[in-house]
Amino acid sequence: MRNLVRRKAMTAAKDQPEHHRLARTLSWPHLVALGVGAIVGTGILTLIGVGADRAGPAVLLSFVVAGLICACAALCYAEMASMIPASGSAYTYSYAVLGEIFAWIVGWSLILEYSLVVATVAVGWSGYAVGFLKGLGIALPEFLTHGPTADGRFGINLPAILIIGVVAWLLMLGTRESARVNSALVVLKLITLALFVAVALPHFDPANLQPFAPFGYGSTPGEGGVKFGVMGAAAIIFFAFYGFDAISTAAEEAKEPERDLAIGIVGSMVACTLIYMIVAAAAVGALPFGRFSDSAEPLALILREIGQGGIATIVAAAAAIALPTVLLAFLYGQSRIFLVMARDGFLPRGLAKVSPRGTPARITAATAAVVAVLAALTPLDMIASLANAGTLCAFVGVAACVLVSRRRDPDARRPFRVPGAWIVAPLAILGCIYLFTSLQAVTQWSFLVWNLLGLAVYFLYARRRSGLTRS
Ligand code: ALA
Repeated sequence: MRNLVRRKAMTAAKDQPEHHRLARTLSWPHLVALGVGAIVGTGILTLIGVGADRAGPAVLLSFVVAGLICACAALCYAEMASMIPASGSAYTYSYAVLGEIFAWIVGWSLILEYSLVVATVAVGWSGYAVGFLKGLGIALPEFLTHGPTADGRFGINLPAILIIGVVAWLLMLGTRESARVNSALVVLKLITLALFVAVALPHFDPANLQPFAPFGYGSTPGEGGVKFGVMGAAAIIFFAFYGFDAISTAAEEAKEPERDLAIGIVGSMVACTLIYMIVAAAAVGALPFGRFSDSAEPLALILREIGQGGIATIVAAAAAIALPTVLLAFLYGQSRIFLVMARDGFLPRGLAKVSPRGTPARITAATAAVVAVLAALTPLDMIASLANAGTLCAFVGVAACVLVSRRRDPDARRPFRVPGAWIVAPLAILGCIYLFTSLQAVTQWSFLVWNLLGLAVYFLYARRRSGLTRS
């Protein structure tokens, strides 16, 4: 039993063997851009329609609820990241504070979060790219534009594989190079959203906000187990807000991690919350929600409906060009988490070898291969909410780490401290649990099965491989 909660002493990055050590190339503007690049994506571009479908104009409140819960979690991440500036994010913190079995469960949930976000966004991007190519008169064979469908048709999503390949290649080329490309695309993405707001906001009509909450404020099961109401929508809108946690996986590549990780996490979260509130208000105010709620590209559709077809095309194209920043940040994060798990002995140690350019090239290639298979072959209806379930579990883990470490070791050095930790961290935990209960039952069951599988792998294989067992 004691082995299950054994904790790992944190070694400084410089104490890693040289061939496992990453190059420090990132400063705080890179980190804020990495966070904004990870956060602003499919959530605001596409899921805002799904949210409006489930909550009506009150989706604005869903944004507030999901944003507040994420803000509490972001503060907890900032404290842990500045205290334990090592790659691996929630997995690393849980290993140091809660013990091995919790670290394993959190790490297993992080695989859901990061891999499924990459797969979801790659497939979403593929939809845009196929439409764009069609517009240019280039039509891919139909079976190469989607994965297997629910009605049994075979398919391999080729554009999704290609975009994951390109992003993985960039990451292997160098972290600094990736960060530069990311920053440029983030600027493009922000200009796109600003353009949308500038054009849509003058069409704001308060009548479009009536009735404000046609499906109520809670989460009520409707057709097909989908949950309606403000909280039901918040559980899916949550997808739009996370990504700030990917910054914490950059700890070993940050030049001044103790200061800059907190700036990156809190800064990107605050910036994105403000941006989302303005974009969401502009969207639901411009058009009755029923007219854009089932669109795959709601922002472009709103612009077309208010007679701005030209701007709609620009927004759709810019969104497609900039969306890969989400892939970049999450593929980056997943490869760093796998890197730490390989160093810890839970994956083959050879995978942790770092290339002469200072990037974990082997683990990046292996991670890209796994998520490309997922993106190419998985039907994706449920995947965004399953990614949410994994993320909620990781957030609960990090908030618990803050509370346990404050209690166990109140005088430890904390370059960033959560203000009002005994209110903020429990709020993060309760908020995440409530959002989890607002997810569809099938997602909750799938999450449970995934974790049972994880525990089986732990007890049958990983426990013996753990570096702590060996030492
Ligand atoms: N927050 C990210 C997105 O919206 C995952 O795509």
